[in-house]
Amino acid sequence: MRIALLSIVLFISTAIFGQSNPNVPMELKTFETIKLLAPDTLSGKPLMQTISRRKSDRQFDSRNLSLKHLSEILWVANGVNRANGKRTVPSSMARYPLQTYAVLSNGIYFYNVQKHQLEPVVEGNFQKLAGRQSFVETAPLNLLYIAKARGENDDFNAAFMDSGYCGQNVYLYCASEGLKTVVRASAQESELLKVMGLETGYKFILAQSVGY
Ligand SMILES: Cc1cc2nc3c(=O)[nH]c(=O)nc-3n(C[C@H](O)[C@H](O)[C@H](O)COP(=O)(O)O)c2cc1C
Repeated sequence: MRIALLSIVLFISTAIFGQSNPNVPMELKTFETIKLLAPDTLSGKPLMQTISRRKSDRQFDSRNLSLKHLSEILWVANGVNRANGKRTVPSSMARYPLQTYAVLSNGIYFYNVQKHQLEPVVEGNFQKLAGRQSFVETAPLNLLYIAKARGENDDFNAAFMDSGYCGQNVYLYCASEGLKTVVRASAQESELLKVMGLETGYKFILAQSVGY
């Protein structure tokens, strides 16, 4: 009787949510484009409560984030929030020099802002390269904010400033959702850019570990 009931619940949840439930940790069995969910813009704690909870954490559970959390983290970090294509973060002259990459346990993905999806860049476990502290390897998500140079003499100052807004948005989202996060200025940046094929014309700016 119980097994029959469980099968019915599983059948219904698969019918509703497709392959997997967006509220449970993802499985990441294949390395392919991850179509992200639209953010739930009516959710979250009030702003003052959220700010009062904002902090850095350096101990992470290794289980993957849910698709809902992954989707909303990318959106708050650098997503589009208006019909004119502008973003959840401000940027000097709306130039948006930063690209956001997600280091997950099965590879590195590029966040396609316009399509709101994660696109595969390089398959494999590169969590170690995402930082120089041991907790980085355990965190199921390490965001990389990487700047694309505007010409040969770009000093990347604008990108450094922009990255603070991305990081803070993710801090506030995590405080609201009960997730853990810390921004980091340290990563194994030359190795990272090499495996990502971004050796020329790109600069690592900031990383951010996120998890439960
Ligand atoms: C630009 C920047 C770089 C940081 N780099 C690191 C880092 O490499 N490793 C780390 O553990 N924390 C890093 N942090 C987090 C700070 O250590 C942390 O914000 C500070 O200790 C204050 O703690 P709180 O965030 O909990 O208020 C960085 C913070 C900022 C703003």
